[in-house]
Amino acid sequence: REVNEEYAVRVKEVSDRLLKWLSKGLGVEEGEVAAAIGGEDAIFLLKINYYPPCPRPDLALGVVAHTDMSVLTFLLPNEVQGLQVSRDGHWFDVDCIPNAIVVHVGDQLEILSNGAYKAVLHRSTLNKDKTRMSWPVFLEPPPEQELGPLPKLVADGEKPELYKRKKYKDYVYCKLNKLPQ
Ligand code: OGA
Ligand code: NI
Repeated sequence: REVNEEYAVRVKEVSDRLLKWLSKGLGVEEGEVAAAIGGEDAIFLLKINYYPPCPRPDLALGVVAHTDMSVLTFLLPNEVQGLQVSRDGHWFDVDCIPNAIVVHVGDQLEILSNGAYKAVLHRSTLNKDKTRMSWPVFLEPPPEQELGPLPKLVADGEKPELYKRKKYKDYVYCKLNKLPQ
């Protein structure tokens, strides 16, 4: 518990800094992305993945291909390689770098950036002999938070809104039930 509480504080520090830089990258005010995802009400959700050894890793996946619903995901894996990311139709292994956190762009960041930042398609494979674990922290808006492309990115009418504005809980419901967004 103590370690988790310390980790939460540290992940939030990394997150705060990244959100500022991501705002800058969009050419909006420093605090804009953070505000759009609920400010201090944003949620950090820790999930623990446990992948036991698999006798036929060629026949199974740990997690099938997906993008995360979050704004950002901070993923800490153990030393067993397994994460893959997709680009141009190919899968690439993500190297395990000791003490490094893998950061994914999630669906909500793609939406609020109106497609400027793309959610990363990823999956995880299994290992024949070794147990793999990973500890992703999902940064999410609160369920009632309405989220859509940042008004400043579409304000002048030059760029169309590519995503619907909706509450995060409704986004999650549609994604989990494979309904159109
Ligand atoms: C996830 C995920 C990948 C991994 O939990 O959303 O993509 O490396 N995990 O465990
Ligand atoms: Ni994921």
